[in-house]
Amino acid sequence: MNSPRHIAIIMDGNGRWAQQRGFKRIKGHERGAEVVREITTYCANHPEIEVLTLYAFSTENWKRPKMEVEFLMKLLDNWLKKELATYQKENVRFEVIGDISRFTPALQERIRLTKEATKDNDRLTQVLALNYGGRDEIIRACRRACEAKKEITEENFEEFFDAQIGDVDMLIRTGGEKRISNFLLWRIAYAELFFTNTYWPDFTPQELETLIEEFKGRNRRFGAI
Ligand code: FPP
Repeated sequence: MNSPRHIAIIMDGNGRWAQQRGFKRIKGHERGAEVVREITTYCANHPEIEVLTLYAFSTENWKRPKMEVEFLMKLLDNWLKKELATYQKENVRFEVIGDISRFTPALQERIRLTKEATKDNDRLTQVLALNYGGRDEIIRACRRACEAKKEITEENFEEFFDAQIGDVDMLIRTGGEKRISNFLLWRIAYAELFFTNTYWPDFTPQELETLIEEFKGRNRRFGAI
């Protein structure tokens, strides 16, 4: 089988990784952000991967302690500022899915600027799911279709989503849990699922490569025989 075109990852295990080492949970997020760069660079240099979608902040993550939420917001802002160089070097277009209207105006502006600065990059699209929930995305898409007075079909539904990134081929969850957690519900209809016990801060391009090899060995029938 071919390589995946679209890989999506639920980056789980940052907190446990840190706690196991006697660090505060936020240290796990810090290391996790470095792994985002390493995995993005790997994908940008892979001849067949076109889209990498990463679950960075869910609609449920607001329930975490205020200090952790504030840290994640600050980390994201600093990270986008710093990572622009990587996006340009690796020819990566930055995209976002999720309802970012709840973020501070400054962070929304940083996101807008990063999207604008990278819009012509065409080696890889890196999509961050931010304040993202799969059900929320579907409901917001339905509202947009209603407002536009357009009929929804399976073929055109994605037009109404935050970004047109296509179906997921391969969904990976790190950190040992075997759940979808409201991620990309519409787009994972035929995705191959992979669960690894590795905590996200320990996830490496080598492990991704091993999972891609396993993907190539799977028999995807899309409902046919
Ligand atoms: C899940 O680990 C991870 C998150 C909720 C946040 C993901 C954030 C990052 C990978 C770092 C920031 C990313 C960018 C792009 C700057 P968890 O905290 O739920 O871990 P646990 O299950 O072990 O508690």
